[in-house]
Amino acid sequence: MKRKRRITAEQIAQRIVKKGKLPRHVAIIMDGNGRWAEKRGLPRAIGHKEGVTAVKRVVRAAARIELPYLTIFAFSRENWKRPRSEVSALMKLLEVTVRREIGELHENNVRLITTGRIDELSPRRKSALEEGVRQTAGNTGLVLNLVFNYSGRDDILRAVKRLVEEAATGRADADGIDEERFDASLMTADLPEPDLIVRTSGEMRISNFFLWQAAYAELYFTSTLWPDFEAKHLYEAIEEYQRRERRFGSVG
Ligand code: IPE
Ligand code: IPE
Ligand code: MG
Repeated sequence: MKRKRRITAEQIAQRIVKKGKLPRHVAIIMDGNGRWAEKRGLPRAIGHKEGVTAVKRVVRAAARIELPYLTIFAFSRENWKRPRSEVSALMKLLEVTVRREIGELHENNVRLITTGRIDELSPRRKSALEEGVRQTAGNTGLVLNLVFNYSGRDDILRAVKRLVEEAATGRADADGIDEERFDASLMTADLPEPDLIVRTSGEMRISNFFLWQAAYAELYFTSTLWPDFEAKHLYEAIEEYQRRERRFGSVG
């Protein structure tokens, strides 16, 4: 009997690298941790813990293909609406994970950065993140952008307020505010726009993620729940991206 040979993640990795035209920046809306746990009759917090394992896998997979920027949306400002116990489990997981993993990230030349209102977190969570960012600041490999306590509308509103303040003090004027200037006022000022946005778990929405930044991102939705997401899923998303034609309003 002829058996169909399974393609390994490594084979897809080689294929997409060979093809070239890799995205510069992949952003992931990781979703489905809760449902992954509920399906197994487990508490949602276990789903989040498994979600961390998936993040580790994906960071390794991204580094393998020398992806320059990987963004992970881990907590939105709307997520504070969840039950207190779940919010505190997520906060704790953030702190513990960053403290535990930062050494390995550093050894692998990964530079950790964050996007979002980190200043609104408790001092312990905040300092865990800040220390991680400081420790890896000199690294030159994958930039891992952890998006925490972030919402797209808040990002835009904050940029508007900044520009209004600058205008009031004579450092900006209406004519000088173009897309580039606005971009530089966003929380993602130092990042290239995402080329590819992946959302897991079958939900087909942006949920207040990078609203401005996603203007011309390619969107990729998969029904895979985040804790089940593996290297090969990332590579499949990139392979799909490589098949797309980005026109930016122009003709093919
Ligand atoms: C994603 O999983 C993680 C966060 C948004 C914090 P969810 O917790 O949203 O999982 P579902 O969507 O309820 O399954
Ligand atoms: C989006 O997921 C936020 C993050 C992935 C951090 P949610 O699970 O919060 O989104 P909704 O509520 O289904 O839109
Ligand atoms: Mg969700």
